[in-house]
Amino acid sequence: MATAKSHLLLVWLLLAATATPAVVGEKGRDDGDGENVKRTFPAGFMFGTATAAYQVEGAWNEDGKGENIWDHMVHEHPEYIRDNATGDIADDSYHKYEEDVRLLAELGSDFYRFSISWARILPKGDLSQINQLGLNYYDNLINELLDKGIEPLVTMYHWDLPQALQELGGWPNPILVDYFEDYARLLIESYGDRVKHWITFNEPLEFTMGYAKEAYMPPSINKPGVGDYLATHTVLLAHARVYHMYDTEYRPTQQGNISITLNTDWVEPASDSPEDIAAQDRMLQFNFGWFAHPIFSEEGDYPQVMRERVAANSEAEGLPRSRLPTFTPEEVAFIRGSSDFLGLNHYTTSIATSGEEGPNPSRDRDRGSVGCQDPTWPTSASSWLKVAPWGFRKLLNWLHKEYNGVTIMVTENGFSDSGELNDAGRENYYKTYINALWEAIMIDGVNVFAYAAWSALDNFEWTRGYAERFGIYHVNYDDPNLTRTPKSSAQLLKSIFTEKMVEKVETPSEYSRSC
Ligand SMILES: *[C@@H]1O[C@H](CO)[C@@H](O)[C@H](O)[C@H]1NC(C)=O
Ligand SMILES: *[C@@H]1O[C@H](CO)[C@@H](O)[C@H](O)[C@H]1NC(C)=O
Ligand SMILES: *[C@@H]1O[C@H](CO)[C@@H](O)[C@H](O)[C@H]1NC(C)=O
Repeated sequence: MATAKSHLLLVWLLLAATATPAVVGEKGRDDGDGENVKRTFPAGFMFGTATAAYQVEGAWNEDGKGENIWDHMVHEHPEYIRDNATGDIADDSYHKYEEDVRLLAELGSDFYRFSISWARILPKGDLSQINQLGLNYYDNLINELLDKGIEPLVTMYHWDLPQALQELGGWPNPILVDYFEDYARLLIESYGDRVKHWITFNEPLEFTMGYAKEAYMPPSINKPGVGDYLATHTVLLAHARVYHMYDTEYRPTQQGNISITLNTDWVEPASDSPEDIAAQDRMLQFNFGWFAHPIFSEEGDYPQVMRERVAANSEAEGLPRSRLPTFTPEEVAFIRGSSDFLGLNHYTTSIATSGEEGPNPSRDRDRGSVGCQDPTWPTSASSWLKVAPWGFRKLLNWLHKEYNGVTIMVTENGFSDSGELNDAGRENYYKTYINALWEAIMIDGVNVFAYAAWSALDNFEWTRGYAERFGIYHVNYDDPNLTRTPKSSAQLLKSIFTEKMVEKVETPSEYSRSC
């Protein structure tokens, strides 16, 4: 619904008119004209799909696996999860991994991004106990993938901290830098001969909320504006520790690359006023720069706007020091540049305006900008996920500029519905978002080398249980066999993945931004 604040952005009309020649750049082509134009991706571009251990594996207490914070939360607080669902069985990929790798091969995937369950390998979190059966599972999975010509791309941490380490305080405790390094070393020693792309952490913006908010994410500790800042501080140091370990001790022989996956919406200002544009920047800095600026900017450290605002609010609260912890100059230098590429998870766009929201204190309030989404944007089954492919292109351009031409792998992108086999909404999403990706690479010159669709299979969607489905393959949870069936989108992605081309669709030339 249009309001007085609504704007039609004509910039995109101009871009669309000037930026679609039949042949673009040297790296790829926009073949033909008129109907059915195919847009070819650069040679060597990789397409794949992604999952995470807790969301697909099941077998939560089999073969010596220890308890993790998701096991703990879903069992202690079933009411936090829609329909009291759990990941106890999930897709049972622990037993069905051979079948799942066959599906990935059918799809023509170049790679598969999956995560390793820390507590499956180290049931107590530390090296006091190493679970050989857990190590074997991933060994078999990696070999099965390679056997089918699919590159394994491994996330070390996708939100499932061993419960034993949570009992020491979890991520706010800096000792976890050492424990994470021990765990990562074991993974690299065990699999680094075959794994050439590593991701240390997935979406710290989300999992550090477990220390800021109840019932969203384990450990469900309600310390906003404190717990999330402390957790992130440890996570960034742990990431950098593992990056340097790999870089100095393993890269010379294993010759792979290691990175971190960060997530963000694109953020539009609510209007072109200087206040709203500043609110847009603060939203991006507090949601993304918080992690990216220390690693990918030239100066390192948390974004200046963030350091200043949290310090000022902390002082006004009568605190003796900022709630945002401080890195020493040595730590700033240690973290800066500690990534070979940027892993990006992106789903949707939001709108920022100047103002205050959230509890006091909290990161939301420190940020001084309020977010919303336009109700006219097409939606998915997830209240937060509106379809705005133009935002994907804008975000990729912003990253390119903000982080000096950084090399990007899109590690997640996808759409939720309630599990229809005829998933026209998902097909439309992938067509339009992959077109936006192509435009960012081929027209705008953003450096993106790979793209992963989330997700290979329907799976346990965290606190939304099994109600919001992101799979390209449907999983029948009413059937004890958990039968997998390709949805319509599997056919579409198979053609994109194997031909390395997407059929051209027009980027929307105008859209409203009102809330
Ligand atoms: C969900 O869990 C809560 C808390 O244990 C319980 O009271 C409720 O009956 C459960 N609901 C269902 C549908 O099982
Ligand atoms: C790692 O990154 C470098 C620099 O971008 C690249 O030349 C190399 O091919 C990458 N290695 C792998 C295994 O992808
Ligand atoms: C489940 O799998 C078993 C073994 O493959 C098969 O015999 C059975 O018919 C399947 N059941 C269903 C409902 O598909």
